[in-house]
Amino acid sequence: MNTTTFNRRDFIKAAGATAAFLPTFSVLSQEYKAETIGPAQDQVNVGVIGYGAEGQILVDAAIKIPGVRIKAVCDIWPYHRQKARGLGRLGHDVTSKTVYEDYREMLEKEDKNIDAVIIATPDWMHAEHTNYCLKAGKHVYCEKEMSNSLEKAASMVKAQRETGKILQIGHQRRSNPRYMHAINRVIRESNMLGRVTHAYGQWNRSVAPFIKDHPRLDIPIETLQKYGYENMEQFRNWRWFAKYGGGPMVDLGSHQIDLFFWVWDCVPISVTAIGGNDYYNRQMNDNVMAMYEFKTKEGKINRAYYQVLTTSSRGGFYEQFMGEDGSLTIAEIAARGNTVQREVRAGGPEESQWVEFAKQGLVVQPKKAVSREVTSNVAVDARVTAAADGWPLPVDLLKPAHMPHLENFFDAVRSNNPKLLNCPADLAYESAVAVLAANTSVAERKTIYFKPEEFHV
Ligand SMILES: NC(=O)c1ccc[n+]([C@@H]2O[C@H](COP(=O)([O-])OP(=O)(O)OC[C@H]3O[C@@H](n4cnc5c(N)ncnc54)[C@H](O)[C@@H]3O)[C@@H](O)[C@H]2O)c1
Repeated sequence: MNTTTFNRRDFIKAAGATAAFLPTFSVLSQEYKAETIGPAQDQVNVGVIGYGAEGQILVDAAIKIPGVRIKAVCDIWPYHRQKARGLGRLGHDVTSKTVYEDYREMLEKEDKNIDAVIIATPDWMHAEHTNYCLKAGKHVYCEKEMSNSLEKAASMVKAQRETGKILQIGHQRRSNPRYMHAINRVIRESNMLGRVTHAYGQWNRSVAPFIKDHPRLDIPIETLQKYGYENMEQFRNWRWFAKYGGGPMVDLGSHQIDLFFWVWDCVPISVTAIGGNDYYNRQMNDNVMAMYEFKTKEGKINRAYYQVLTTSSRGGFYEQFMGEDGSLTIAEIAARGNTVQREVRAGGPEESQWVEFAKQGLVVQPKKAVSREVTSNVAVDARVTAAADGWPLPVDLLKPAHMPHLENFFDAVRSNNPKLLNCPADLAYESAVAVLAANTSVAERKTIYFKPEEFHV
């Protein structure tokens, strides 16, 4: 692999025709095929461990990045190994000879052919897979949550330090240009919201039964047990079992609680959570409500509330950051949140100030005019409504949600510079401490108090 930095602008230009929508896997893959198998000097050769739902999404995004070439795939499920062979038809080098059941065999046989590994196995295997790959001299993109065990997550930070390899953790919002604009520019640089005292995040989902596939897809029980899974039900629904995952709180909360760290640039001092396994009678909590207290570097206390429900999709998923001068509502899907609301209060920011913010490109001035031909009470209501509708963010993400985070990873790989990463392991470890502690707080029915040193390995 050559370490020349590739030109992302060229790629955006090339992909422009397809950029305004998110087509299906097959359509995208065909369109990007010709563009993406680029010059050899820019090529990064990639192995994949875990080609399930997320592994396929990551590969689908990665193969749109010029020069990224998938060389081999490992998955313990024959059904997913068979799917992986389809990558061969897209010009990648995945054949029946380069799909593996065992990751050690893949690393051994493909050692010379692989520069980096994408890991999207269930959380409990992340540390084992990541540490093995790093020690084998590979760069790693590993999905969140780092692990369902803090000790294992810490071992990943240590393995990265020992090997000096690139390790990106898959909190993809960290590289999403909409989030980067909203958090870095609108909140942190311009202070448009004033002091942000509170944050809110939620991920609500409808009732859903366990995943169950046709029995012809079953993995033989002896193979399943060799890899630590008791049966197909646990293998397919690993999130809901303590051995393999952390339940919805960890699965979904990990993305959103990480944002509290980013906005406030500090760690929490406590978490108090309630929740329970109230609806499904499964192992992990099906609902959690967690409150975090953060202490800023200036010594101020900020509070964040996080909620995950799996029995109602009301409100869906989004995050809010509430400041004295305004609030941001944002979500990974822009239609669910993409605006900044001005705080209408005595002594608060005047609209004219926000027009200036709009001129600086921080927000877009809303088109809707406030009607003045109304009675005074209604006028106030209309003004509040207009403020609540908000000033849209001017940045769009016109590619798959994971692609910028993968691009950031491959940029770091190409220049062999871990400092370029938007979500290195030590940063991801901080939010892992906070997220895993919410489950402990629920189980022990008490507030968990953190010491600052607990966030560092
Ligand atoms: N960043 C995101 O937005 C996002 C979204 C979904 C999932 N994830 C994360 O991605 C990871 C995978 O989640 P998923 O939804 O794809 O789960 P999944 O069950 O659909 O896929 C997991 C895959 O790993 C394979 N696998 C299991 N154990 C293995 C082993 N020991 N060796 C090799 N392969 C093994 C399974 O056969 C399966 O194909 C999890 O860590 C999850 O938290 C991240």
